[in-house]
Amino acid sequence: MTNTVVVNADVEKGKINKNIYGHFAEHLGRCIYEGIWVGEDSAIPNTKGIRNDVLEALKQINIPVLRWPGGCFADEYHWKDGVGPRENRKRMVNTHWGGVVENNHFGTHEFMLLCDLLGCEPYICGNVGSGTVQEMSEWVEYMTFDGESPMANWRQENGREDPWKLKYFGVGNENWGCGGNMRPEYYADLYRRYQTYVRNYGDNKLYKIAGGANIDDYNWTEVLMREAGHFMDGLSLHYYTIPGDFWLGKGAATGFPEDEWFITMQKALHMDELITRHGTIMDKYDPEKRIGMIVDEWGTWFDVEPGTNPGFLYQQNTIRDALVAAIHFHIFQEHCDRVQMTNIAQTVNVLQAMVLTEGEKMLLTPTYHVFDMYKVHQDATLLAVDVNVGKYKYNDQEIDQVTVSASKDKDGKVHISLCNIDHKEAASLSINLRGLKDTNANVTGTILTADTMDAHNTFENPDAIKPVAFTEAALENEQLNVTLPPMSVVMLTIE
Ligand code: AHR
Repeated sequence: MTNTVVVNADVEKGKINKNIYGHFAEHLGRCIYEGIWVGEDSAIPNTKGIRNDVLEALKQINIPVLRWPGGCFADEYHWKDGVGPRENRKRMVNTHWGGVVENNHFGTHEFMLLCDLLGCEPYICGNVGSGTVQEMSEWVEYMTFDGESPMANWRQENGREDPWKLKYFGVGNENWGCGGNMRPEYYADLYRRYQTYVRNYGDNKLYKIAGGANIDDYNWTEVLMREAGHFMDGLSLHYYTIPGDFWLGKGAATGFPEDEWFITMQKALHMDELITRHGTIMDKYDPEKRIGMIVDEWGTWFDVEPGTNPGFLYQQNTIRDALVAAIHFHIFQEHCDRVQMTNIAQTVNVLQAMVLTEGEKMLLTPTYHVFDMYKVHQDATLLAVDVNVGKYKYNDQEIDQVTVSASKDKDGKVHISLCNIDHKEAASLSINLRGLKDTNANVTGTILTADTMDAHNTFENPDAIKPVAFTEAALENEQLNVTLPPMSVVMLTIE
């Protein structure tokens, strides 16, 4: 069939919050330690302990916001252990992730430095599960109070004169699970209590995020919105793309069979239904859409790489992951009226990472390249798109073969991102750019694709997969004809 797409260049659907391209870095495995923090004395070139190669790579993709310190770690984290002279900081056991020693060398000051260096907003997740109201309240005072107070004085003694600007603050993480195994009614009450003491000091205005549902726990969203909606600015949602079963075997990151490719795509597309249904509940209590849906954990979750610590969640990253990322961005953008932030799990060396490291070596994953290609959508205006495409069939199942999203940036450039999900068949598309003022505009493109389903970058061959110029697309009047190879992500810019 002829696949047709109409991009309505004159029908604007709202702003794509750049925070949709947000990140998450937890004290888990080799994400923070080794992946980001190597310490000032390391032989690996670093800026005040933060490795330069990773820093430079992450700067390139314009990370808008970074969530820290967890995840499950957040509800075991006691921030006071992570400030003051490093040699005096408490050593603890990271009981949730691998039972390894956490020396607390990367704490509040180091995280804020990282955000400064990246030019991104910090998003801090506080401890409800095993922490006190006072501890949470004092953390905010420590970071944001300008003037004399016990915590502000302590911050100054620890070398930071001025308060930091902090907007995003999460009150707990997965409180239905690792964050305390609570029922929604109980957490809703705790949320109301904890957030009361999470104060706005001076002109620092916090955006408070309540711990939201796991996957399709719609009752959680219902109860939180009903009981605590007035006290929150954002409500989170967590959903991971797992081809197999979480406990019995998730599936391998590489060397997987064809059906796992298909299932992975199908499960990634499920994010649309989750956002729609959680969003419908939110609409009931918040029709003005004041409260943002914050998808602060998403991405692929496979079996760990053989021979690695099962508690470290280290997995390879292939062209399949790139497609999963692109599919998610299309969904998030389509829901940009409600989805105000998302945070892929996780930035370095854990789950669907941007960057993998081994000693002093570093590589960029296919997922990284999608973030790089898609950064043009950040803060752009979503355009209405009509998509009429064929099906990608596998056994008795079928999904749309192609997904599309389009935006217009502040300079008037139109960006169209396209994914061909099919692992075997190319897709020919006829794209009508209706409403485009300049019908002879210039078209440039970039493509990320591969010949095998599990193609990936290795430390020996770090550039096996990377974006290259896509020169196939030419505009004639309002018409663009494009052929997308199997397993491809394409970004077109019309200017
Ligand atoms: O990202 C890994 C873990 O997944 C997080 O710590 C937790 O919140 C989720 O279950």
